[in-house]
Amino acid sequence: MPHRYRRLRATSTIRNFVQETHLRAYDLLQPFFVIDGKNKKDAIASMPGIYRFSTDPLLRAVEIYMRLGGRGGILFGVSDHKDNSGKYAYATNSPVVKAVQAVKKHFPEFLVVTDVCLCAYMTHGHCGVVEDQKINNDKSLPILSKMALAHAAAGADIVAPSDMMDFRVRAIRQELNKSHFEEVGILSYAAKYASSFYGPFRDAAHSAAGFGDRKTYQMDPANSREALKEALKDVEEGADMIMVKPALAYLDIIAVLRQKLTLPIVAYNVSGEYSMVKAAAQKGWVDEQSVVLETLTSIKRAGADIIISYHAQDALQWLQ
Ligand code: PBG
Repeated sequence: MPHRYRRLRATSTIRNFVQETHLRAYDLLQPFFVIDGKNKKDAIASMPGIYRFSTDPLLRAVEIYMRLGGRGGILFGVSDHKDNSGKYAYATNSPVVKAVQAVKKHFPEFLVVTDVCLCAYMTHGHCGVVEDQKINNDKSLPILSKMALAHAAAGADIVAPSDMMDFRVRAIRQELNKSHFEEVGILSYAAKYASSFYGPFRDAAHSAAGFGDRKTYQMDPANSREALKEALKDVEEGADMIMVKPALAYLDIIAVLRQKLTLPIVAYNVSGEYSMVKAAAQKGWVDEQSVVLETLTSIKRAGADIIISYHAQDALQWLQ
């Protein structure tokens, strides 16, 4: 006899018993933008509810997030100091270094991940060294490595290279090991697409490219096999976790990598995905809470072990 599937949907009790995917605090990483200065908390127009913090307000924000159950975050530096060499990216007094030191001093158990990329520290806004209007892969590697080392020395638990240069995971692993930071992990943005969903982030991080676009290093949204190729290479080079970015338009990529890899998969629910929900919710067109929880659950269902999301703090509040 054909089954009556509605039996298992009849009450919230039975629905909870048969629920397959669960969202918990340890699934989520909250992004934090960090800047220089004293007592600064600047709103980001294109990302309602998200701020750029100098160190003291950052500590308060982390404390609030932890009180809701938050267990880790990823830090992005926003810098006024930019040149064409990238030296500010690895400065030992960069906003990220100061933020990592402060957060680890006050909340040693909070998992601190740092984004490693040159775009916020380069006048031209590209993620690598530019020569003759081209991004030079191999000249970018030592700078990225020094940046990762500065973050590790400040106390970061995990560094997350997002530049999409070839061989950067290997270069960073070697640099960290040389200085005896063997225990600092690498979360590789392995499958990072040249996406239009990063728009609000570039506004937040002042990191838009001054000429051209990022298509010579970030991946073509039309490609799926390429994601597997990139991920397998980064595993071989020593990555501890693999990221897929963005998340929503790339759930198929998350699912494929989950099947083919044994490492944890991290999905990045990016700025554009966040701001679209915020804008529609502000207009009263969607219910923010249920849309966000449905979205985050679907990213987990697709196979992500961890989700980076600007909604993380709200989600934790709603899950309580
Ligand atoms: C830096 C970086 C970007 C994002 C994370 N790291 C922007 C980019 O590649 O242009 C995007 C994050 C988001 O949109 O939320 N390279």
